[in-house]
Amino acid sequence: MNENHVLVIGGTGMLSKVSIWLADHHAQVSVIGRTQEKHSDLMKMAGDPARLNNIAVDYYNLDALETELKRAMDKHGPITLAVCWSPFYPAVERISRVITEWSDRWRLYHVKGSRRYFEDEPLSVPASCQYRSIYLGFVMTGNGSRWLTHAEIADGIIESVKNDEDGAVVGTVHPYEKRPC
Ligand SMILES: NC(=O)c1ccc[n+]([C@@H]2O[C@H](COP(=O)([O-])OP(=O)(O)OC[C@H]3O[C@@H](n4cnc5c(N)ncnc54)[C@H](OP(=O)(O)O)[C@@H]3O)[C@@H](O)[C@H]2O)c1
Repeated sequence: MNENHVLVIGGTGMLSKVSIWLADHHAQVSVIGRTQEKHSDLMKMAGDPARLNNIAVDYYNLDALETELKRAMDKHGPITLAVCWSPFYPAVERISRVITEWSDRWRLYHVKGSRRYFEDEPLSVPASCQYRSIYLGFVMTGNGSRWLTHAEIADGIIESVKNDEDGAVVGTVHPYEKRPC
């Protein structure tokens, strides 16, 4: 994998390790999240903080999101890979449309909760976007089940991106009725 500019939406929370892994393997990683302090914490984790481009924008504000994304691509070049943790599909669609104006072929890994494995909203992305879903499940234990840890989530996403998998499940989504409360 050798991308020049990649994007992580929601990359300062449980996807922090994914943002850092991408920064270690790519020229530039733009990371979207609202809180400056979380971006600063992420910078402290990075081997080379200059590889991280903080985008402190609320993805519910679609026009601001588009402006910031265009600013990032003006500075760092077309985005060719994106990892997205956002439940707000209009933001995913806006991001996809803007990236497609710069990149005629790019990949989007859309990270989703387990419910969406069974029942998802419609999402429209341009043909130039190679769209992949990654579902976050849970872990069955001897006496029940538990949610994934942040490390398990990040490691599972990294494996899916490395293997370019579509429909990957981190942990399990079966039996769904046994998921943790
Ligand atoms: N199957 C599972 O095991 C599973 C699945 C999902 C969640 N979880 C658990 O649930 C916890 C909470 O999930 P979470 O969604 O809060 O995850 P999170 O990754 O801790 O935080 C969400 C990320 O998205 C950013 N973000 C949130 N709202 C945003 C907005 N409007 N605009 C731009 N960026 C935004 C956050 O930064 P800012 O807040 O600074 O904007 C942060 O980077 C997780 O810590 C995880 O343990 C478990």
